Amino acid sequence: MGVMVALLRGMVIKTANKDSIEEAAQILRDGGLVGMPTETVYGLAANAFDGQAVARIFEAKGRPSFNPLIVHVLDLAAAGVLVEVDDRAEALADRFWPGPLTMILPRKAGTDISELVSAGLPTLAVRAPRHKVTQALIRAAGVPLAAPSANRSGSLSPTSPIHVADSLGENVDLILAAGPSEVGLESTVIDLSSNVAVILRPGAVTPEEISAVLGVEVLVETGVSDAPKSPGLVLKHYAPDTPVRLNAVDVGDGEALLGFGSLKFMGQKSGGAAADMDESRLRNLSEDGDLHEAAAHLFAMLKELDRPEHSAIAVMAIPDEGLGIAINDRLMRAASGSQGQDD
Ligand code: TXA
Ligand code: MG
Repeated sequence: MGVMVALLRGMVIKTANKDSIEEAAQILRDGGLVGMPTETVYGLAANAFDGQAVARIFEAKGRPSFNPLIVHVLDLAAAGVLVEVDDRAEALADRFWPGPLTMILPRKAGTDISELVSAGLPTLAVRAPRHKVTQALIRAAGVPLAAPSANRSGSLSPTSPIHVADSLGENVDLILAAGPSEVGLESTVIDLSSNVAVILRPGAVTPEEISAVLGVEVLVETGVSDAPKSPGLVLKHYAPDTPVRLNAVDVGDGEALLGFGSLKFMGQKSGGAAADMDESRLRNLSEDGDLHEAAAHLFAMLKELDRPEHSAIAVMAIPDEGLGIAINDRLMRAASGSQGQDD
């Protein structure tokens, strides 16, 4: 039945083999989305360098907010290009990679991974899956793959290709089918970005196994999954230090402007067109008013304008539909200075 529905919606499910993996790799290189098997659960993959492709992940999942995503790589050497690997990470990778362990590490300065992947955070989650099809896909695509679980926001993580099809409809360009997921449970997520290692999501690799490798008892602090979480245990979100002013219709003295769409009718309070402002004070999320482009630019541009010499960042109105809902969610948090709260 699921297959019938899937076909009626025009969705493509293909058994994973050399040809379909090559086709999927091409889709990824072209900015599309692929439902991919991993040993834990099925993931919804995009090229992690391509912000607009990553934006499509959030759109497809119907996530009302931007959560940081896991970047899938082949091995520790590939991860080491993207994040700062320390002795703990090396020891854990040595023991559990490839496999169901995700490590959160500091982003390497100058990495080209889209800021949207880590939702503006200075850290990045990396994992080397052990499923042969995932490995073949990463190799064929030639890029690291950003992928959350391939379900709509708030639903269970998919452990079969039919789950992916049922959950994501036609929002995915191709689903690679490789039977039921071996583990059936998401990867263990461990935060190694500070001196104290903390498990943020329990998974197939247990705290005892991790503690044994690290030689210290590792804390478990859950609350980062898609599931409703206990208050107090929330993911820290990126927020600029500079105040954010929403729905701006003009730009004040000393303010920076984060535009969206045409600036034709935007003026400066002191006179003059906003479009003539100095480059250091002006960014446009998308001149064409394209929400994918805006999402891809959001965190990078906020950071570029987040400077002490600006009294505030004035942000033009963004339509509260589709990806605009997640963009506005993040802007509202930035405006209210709220750091906590996760979806
Ligand atoms: O098994 C898995 O991990 C699957 C397969 C597809 O690899 N992926 C998965 O991704 O479950 P997702 O996006 O559904 O869950 C990733 C979790 C989220 O709870 C997210 O908040 C957390 O990891 N996470 C990712 N990057 C983070 C970061 N920089 N800091 C804190 N938490 C992060
Ligand atoms: Mg998930």
